[in-house]
Amino acid sequence: MTVKKTDKIWHNGAFKSWDDAQLHVVSHVVSYGSSVFEGIRCYHTTEGPAIFRLRDHMQRLRNSAHVYRMDPEFSLDELCDAATDLIRLNRMDSCYIRPMILRGYGDVGVNPFNCPIESYMACWEWNNPYLGEEAVHAGVDVCVSSWARSAPNTLPQMAKCAANYMNSQLIRMEAMLNGYVEGIALDVSGHVSEGSGENIFLVMDGAVITPPLENCVLPGITRHSVLTMCRDLDIPAVEQVVPREMLYLAEEVFFCGTAAEITPIRSIDKIRVGKGGRGTITRRIQDEFFGITSGTKSDTHGWLTHVRVDGGVPIDERVKVMSGKPANVPAGVPVGADIR
Ligand SMILES: Cc1ncc(COP(=O)(O)O)c(C=O)c1O
Repeated sequence: MTVKKTDKIWHNGAFKSWDDAQLHVVSHVVSYGSSVFEGIRCYHTTEGPAIFRLRDHMQRLRNSAHVYRMDPEFSLDELCDAATDLIRLNRMDSCYIRPMILRGYGDVGVNPFNCPIESYMACWEWNNPYLGEEAVHAGVDVCVSSWARSAPNTLPQMAKCAANYMNSQLIRMEAMLNGYVEGIALDVSGHVSEGSGENIFLVMDGAVITPPLENCVLPGITRHSVLTMCRDLDIPAVEQVVPREMLYLAEEVFFCGTAAEITPIRSIDKIRVGKGGRGTITRRIQDEFFGITSGTKSDTHGWLTHVRVDGGVPIDERVKVMSGKPANVPAGVPVGADIR
């Protein structure tokens, strides 16, 4: 599905039109995958658009950049303001937000230090359920992937880096070509890790279990939200190493993530999970999650950032107009060569 363009994209502190947000083909990121990014949802609520866990996502973005020595020139507050301004400018009621920090046009070797660090943020309308139309209600059929997650001390899994998603693509393509919706990856020791773009939870004896970070999982914001909601709902929840066979024995299994939200898994490797549909604990967690994100349940943890469509500081007073040389382009790189 082709993305539906919005009006503006944020780049290094200014807004430019969607079509003008372009990179040169020899930018470092194109050859070497040197980009960190986030996926964030803005939900429609009765009080207008509201972004789910905006600061936590932007903090993870900054953490990812820090690991790769790509610290952006923008503070946490500035990145959060850019997201709310972007939604206001594009007049979105609900959308997906994609901030990116990447190595741009400069040197062409592996050494990234002579390439400018560019920050971008785009948003677009996204109404298609990530794992299929009925996935959230009926559950999905998945497999255990033949591809493992990256070994510890190879590609850092706590950093959400573009390069990690080459591994995710192998997992997802293999699953889809074999007739499954998604694949579950094991880590290099054979323990359950996560989906190609989701964290995973199991329910055993009424308790909710998810693999810990040492099993090469992304520290998902939704994963953290699920653990928190379990506490709120008095459902026992633990982080625990999960052997593969536990997947087949669990009463319930579900994926969670910004894209997948809370999606039940109804079969794994053609073995039915529990009764083969959405389990009761999964349902309780879904009700809480969708209640909070839609604004119908109270947001006791302050997870929603409401975007004031017709108020707040006028955007023009805070936002630069893009002109001339971006501040972080190193000497020697022709102005405009990186941005066309
Ligand atoms: C590999 C991977 N694991 C887990 C997640 C879930 O993370 P979050 O809940 O922060 O979206 C994602 C999605 O970003 C992901 O790509």
